[in-house]
Amino acid sequence: MTLRSVILGTGSYLPKKKVTNDELSQYLDTSHEWIVERTGICARHIAAEGEYTSDLAVKAAQQALEAAHLTPQDIDLIILGTCTPDHTLPATATRVQAKLGMTKGIAFDQAAVCSGFIFALATADAYLKQGMAKTALVIGAETMSRVIDWNDRSTAVLFGDGAGAVVLQAQKETDRGILGSLLRTNGAGYDSLCTTGGPSTTQTSGFVKMSGRDVFKNAVQSLGEAVEEILKIHDLSQDELDWLVPHQANKRIIDATAKKLGLPDEKVIHTGAEQANTSAASIPLALDKAVRDGRIKKGDLVLCEAFAGGYAWGSTLIRM
Ligand code: UT7
Repeated sequence: MTLRSVILGTGSYLPKKKVTNDELSQYLDTSHEWIVERTGICARHIAAEGEYTSDLAVKAAQQALEAAHLTPQDIDLIILGTCTPDHTLPATATRVQAKLGMTKGIAFDQAAVCSGFIFALATADAYLKQGMAKTALVIGAETMSRVIDWNDRSTAVLFGDGAGAVVLQAQKETDRGILGSLLRTNGAGYDSLCTTGGPSTTQTSGFVKMSGRDVFKNAVQSLGEAVEEILKIHDLSQDELDWLVPHQANKRIIDATAKKLGLPDEKVIHTGAEQANTSAASIPLALDKAVRDGRIKKGDLVLCEAFAGGYAWGSTLIRM
């Protein structure tokens, strides 16, 4: 009997502190107008001192569990998509496991930068379909503010902190759930979006540096292909899509993908203006927002997509 990974609940968390473009313009050679025109971003949330990726992840996870009417004891798998772990080792997911009070199962991190949630979701889906776990928490959580050089205007204006989570459960005989995922990487893009350091190279985490134009060009091209290909694989037409829930790196990239799909803007979930690019957290944050405000409903067909450093990109089709 075919098993499907069904989303039972979503949750999210944003740190209290919010920093606007105008605040950044006070010390950086930038402006609200430049940032909005090039990215669509107006503000970003920043984690407080002593508030770590695991703390954000736990809050989002608790909300998702509550929405699913489950407790941590019902979970036997946690996959955390993050590129800003609390420590280099061990996996931050194990800290989340402990903080939630979950004592069984498996917990590990998935590193695919801004595509971390899509990769984690596909991995959890495979675990559930193979019977290796029954009920999973899939989380995207980041403290990007800790790997940003706040004096580099080309990156400081782009990122924010936050977390989003979903509870996934293996169910039989249902039309709902993850229909499929398409994941791709191309290591030739490694240097185009990376940090200036790492444990094995500089023994520091370093700061994000990016060849913005190269990443932009590759993102538009690869995402266009990834969304068309996944629809073709599942024999679905663009008209059947109810929602596009994209990674929120840049409004112009999202608009290009929606145009390729022929989707009107009303069917696209945007959160970038108030949250900026929260890397692996942006898709579950956007999904949770649209579920909670009643736009995304049970039975809707949702397409998620992300492009990231690596390069690593992908798309996922979900019947909610
Ligand atoms: O989430 C992972 C994936 N990441 C992405 O998808 C990001 C993809 N890239 C982008 O979103 C865009 O490339 C950026 C938003 C990062 C940059 O926009 P752009 O239109 O590609 O600008 P650019 O990098 O070509 O820079 C244009 C100009 C440059 O000045 P000159 O050389 O033309 O004089 C930059 O120095 O804008 C300058 N600039 C800024 N000016 C004001 C760069 N950053 C800023 C800034 N404020 N914050």
